[in-house]
Amino acid sequence: MKKAKIIGLGSYLPKKVLTNADFEKMIDTSDEWITSRTGIKERRIAADDEFTSDMGYEAAKKAIEDAKLKAEDIDIIFVATLTPDYIFPSTACLIQEKLEAKNAAALDIQAACSGYVYALSLAKALVENNTYKNILIIASEKLSSIINYKDRSTSVLFGDAAAAAVVSQDGSGLEIQSIYLGASGSEADLLILPAGGCKNPASEKTLKEGLHYIKMGGKEVFKHAVRRMQQAIEKCLKETNLSEKDISWLIPHQANERIIDAIAKRFEHLDNEKVYKEVVRKFGNTSASSVGLALDFLKKENKLKSKEKILLTVFGAGFTWGAAILENN
Ligand code: UT7
Repeated sequence: MKKAKIIGLGSYLPKKVLTNADFEKMIDTSDEWITSRTGIKERRIAADDEFTSDMGYEAAKKAIEDAKLKAEDIDIIFVATLTPDYIFPSTACLIQEKLEAKNAAALDIQAACSGYVYALSLAKALVENNTYKNILIIASEKLSSIINYKDRSTSVLFGDAAAAAVVSQDGSGLEIQSIYLGASGSEADLLILPAGGCKNPASEKTLKEGLHYIKMGGKEVFKHAVRRMQQAIEKCLKETNLSEKDISWLIPHQANERIIDAIAKRFEHLDNEKVYKEVVRKFGNTSASSVGLALDFLKKENKLKSKEKILLTVFGAGFTWGAAILENN
């Protein structure tokens, strides 16, 4: 059996930049606090008339072009997002239409910030069992649409962005060697958008109580994020009989530089220079898009050498988490 490979990558960032200095004018915060607690300097904010499907479409076009394919070659589209344009129809269907990917089925995936690796896992399975030839995965988030810009504990953390990848059996690229996924619904309340679903449909009360904004128990989420990403890395390494010394690049979910540092500390043989942090510094936490952006930048900057192994690890609401090992071929 031929292993599934990522044969094309793409990403998209909206133009508007929101800096820490901008936040100093909006709320009681400081560049010093945000930088020392999170590492974040800037984030991008989508235009009022720019939505998750628009950003996802832009990233997808680039990934399809990078794969040297046409939209009609795509068999199925997965969109990982927690900020879909609508609850239904799926954002995947909206992007299928924009792309004119007329041979593609389409489906949204809800695994919050872990969505990129969840989508990758489904794509790998479906390509390797010959169900589909070319799968387009997209992570796209307009997090600015669910953020209360008066709440300093969450507003400074998040940004908007999209990333995409084409997974296929043919062609050269990043071979998906192993994927591990995990979930635990018992901590669902620690990171949640309380209203808008059937439990708390939009009402005057939900609006008044601000229940259409992200709510997060930051400190608790931080601890779970470090522990779960560490476990996911260990599971993935074990499954492939690899050690941390075999990993050339670690791309953890780009939520907070301190979370990334805490994970890196637990793997003493990983070269600190090869632990990716640029995305969180420049774009904040872009949820499902974050590891996809990092992967696209690494590849486009020609930083990946032949046969190098990249380890992605993710963590998000649910809780959900996971890790994937890719090899550059
Ligand atoms: O994407 C997946 C999930 N998300 C994450 O992984 C995020 C996980 N959590 C975190 O990254 C961190 O917990 C935060 C960055 C959210 C917060 O950092 P912290 O070191 O855990 O700070 P804290 O929440 O304990 O707050 C410390 C203090 C508080 O003041 P008091 O109560 O000590 O007086 C906060 O009110 O910092 C205050 N604070 C701020 N001060 C200035 C909170 N936000 C801000 C702010 N500017 N933006």
